[in-house]
Amino acid sequence: MGNDWFESVAEAERRAAKRLPRSVHLAIRAGSERGLTLADNVAAFGELGFAPHMAGLSAKRELTTTAMGQEIAMPVLMSPTGVQAVHPDGELAVARAAAARGVAMGLSSFASKPMEEVVAANPQTFLQVYWSGSRERLAQRIERARAAGIVGLIVTLDWSFVHARDWGSPFIPERVDAKAALRYAPEVLRRPRWLAQWARTKALPDLSVPNWGAAGEPAPTFFGAYGEWMMTPPPSWDDLQWLRQEWGSPFMLKGVMRVDDARRAVDIGATAISVSNHGGNNLDGTPATIRALPPIVAAVGRDIEVLMDGGIRRGSDVVKAVALGARAVMIGRAYLWGLAANGQAGVENVLDILRNGIDSALLALGRSSVSELTPTDILVPPGFVQRLGDAPD
Ligand SMILES: Cc1cc2nc3c(=O)[nH]c(=O)nc-3n(C[C@H](O)[C@H](O)[C@H](O)COP(=O)(O)O)c2cc1C
Repeated sequence: MGNDWFESVAEAERRAAKRLPRSVHLAIRAGSERGLTLADNVAAFGELGFAPHMAGLSAKRELTTTAMGQEIAMPVLMSPTGVQAVHPDGELAVARAAAARGVAMGLSSFASKPMEEVVAANPQTFLQVYWSGSRERLAQRIERARAAGIVGLIVTLDWSFVHARDWGSPFIPERVDAKAALRYAPEVLRRPRWLAQWARTKALPDLSVPNWGAAGEPAPTFFGAYGEWMMTPPPSWDDLQWLRQEWGSPFMLKGVMRVDDARRAVDIGATAISVSNHGGNNLDGTPATIRALPPIVAAVGRDIEVLMDGGIRRGSDVVKAVALGARAVMIGRAYLWGLAANGQAGVENVLDILRNGIDSALLALGRSSVSELTPTDILVPPGFVQRLGDAPD
């Protein structure tokens, strides 16, 4: 790995900023409006402390667990993200890295690589879908997913089409054609290593979305797909129950922040929820996910798998989330920065950082397995926890 190795996710982010054209870097940073939720997702982990032991520690630590019917080497999954233009290998590099480290992969509806290729790279792949089109269109999409060997469905529900950011949004073209290339030229020419990577593939970033359609259909453009989704009425709980039955295999609702919604996820028979605010990219002012996690675990933790995502930057964050009741966490920006910094090896590097961090925290806490972690391992300051949605049980 030589000089390409990095020791922290913060360093991966710095390298990504240096490597990527400004627009691509801003697209990964994302966030919405003031960026309150984006910042709180990360800051909240810093408010939690540990209660370490110093003797009687465990010489061996077990990190393996299961989530959504899959055995995984540690309580970490790749959260679905559209990684168009970050790296020519895109989701294939992420899927290979995840497979190499025993981690399951969430593939976005807006991903740049077809699900069939991603499943070949990592058989533990979940497909993420949005409620878009009609029941008939969704049924076609999940039929394709089943045939492709997708092992679980992630239905992302927290998106309210907020597009403005106080620090500005990057320009995204309909297609990367000559006009778009000219517009991007000044920032791209300042990123020769990124440009050289793409030049070697003899292709430009392709902004089509191959997982949107049914089997055999041509891939729509990003904006074509986004437009269809925007025009679709949001799903009712009946719609979601229908989708869960139609799919019939492990099924996650992503974007749950409220206790009452978590209960309804149980009612429709979902396998899992992810306590998530879309990484701070949706309704700004939503609290950090780790603040909302404990009451949701208390309400439904015995009835459904509770995962969380948002703000995970180190192994100790994973341990805090698991100790507060998450079965596993999902990561987004952390692996995108690793991918930008060093392709597949960069994503493996990020997963190794998390793994080592989890292991160190377990050692310090005197735990021999992630399954032994409890809230008593964590110092939760007064007022930290936020119960959203209804009165205490
Ligand atoms: C650039 C970017 C693209 C994303 N695209 C999707 C997506 O297509 N589908 C989805 O369900 N979530 C998407 N997300 C949200 C992530 O799955 C996840 O909820 C979030 O990144 C977690 O926060 P973190 O980045 O702090 O780890 C995206 C996030 C980012 C940063």
